[in-house]
Amino acid sequence: MKQRIALASEWVGRARRIVVLTGAGISAESGVPTFRGDEGLWKRHRPEKLATPEAFRRNPRLVWEWYRYRQALVEKTRPNDAHRALARLEEGREGFLLVTQNIDGHHERAGSRKVVELHGNLFRARCDECGERRSMRGETASTTIPRCARGHEMRPDVVWFGEALPVPALEEAWKGATQSDLFLVIGTSAQVHPAASLPLAAKESGSRVVEVNTAETVLTDVADLVLRGRAAKIVPLIARVEKGA
Ligand code: OAD
Repeated sequence: MKQRIALASEWVGRARRIVVLTGAGISAESGVPTFRGDEGLWKRHRPEKLATPEAFRRNPRLVWEWYRYRQALVEKTRPNDAHRALARLEEGREGFLLVTQNIDGHHERAGSRKVVELHGNLFRARCDECGERRSMRGETASTTIPRCARGHEMRPDVVWFGEALPVPALEEAWKGATQSDLFLVIGTSAQVHPAASLPLAAKESGSRVVEVNTAETVLTDVADLVLRGRAAKIVPLIARVEKGA
């Protein structure tokens, strides 16, 4: 393992364009529940009842209750050493892009600046009528449906099942992946596309793929290097950042 971490760290040191794709596993050690697995959110809740446009049309209040419950869960947590190490890795690097499937906002809280949020942000609402977006920070305890300046009901600014990803975000991620020379995949089961296609596109374009995960995934066979273990322990080591820094 030591050798593999040293090799990954050497690749990080030499790479000119690094793209990182993160999933729920990077926030697991912060205490944010993942989606799949025995403790996963989708084991306890039916996605089609809560995370779909139909569910929102049927019962917006229930859907907002679910998202406020998730906001409250996340608000009790903090970014961890893996989030912080990625923020430090970005410093002074032009060709660095962080792409996340997470909606918890922990990368930005940890100090990352160039972040593509493929699945939106839990702490933002948007109006599908007029396009207004606004922050929901500090409104977690509210029980009303947020409204835009024109009085329309707003929805959580997240991607639901059956919805397309925001095109500019996906384009930026795709461009980054296909131009990268090192692609780090951290804490994702890689089961949800198109996010899960990014490492494959990177690999096809000649990038090296490194996977950091506690368990095997569909990407394990594709990766040039697999680092099996917890993100908060491994990422600071490969990013050459001391733990707790
Ligand atoms: P998953 O819950 O599917 O996968 C989490 C991954 O993290 C698994 O592969 C775990 O083995 C790994 N893992 C858990 N703890 C870890 C740790 N401490 N360090 C490293 N790895 C760890 O979450 P995602 O792959 O992010 O989409 O799920 C992708 C999408 O599915 C989500 O963005 C969400 C969901 O449906 C939408 O809501 C649109």
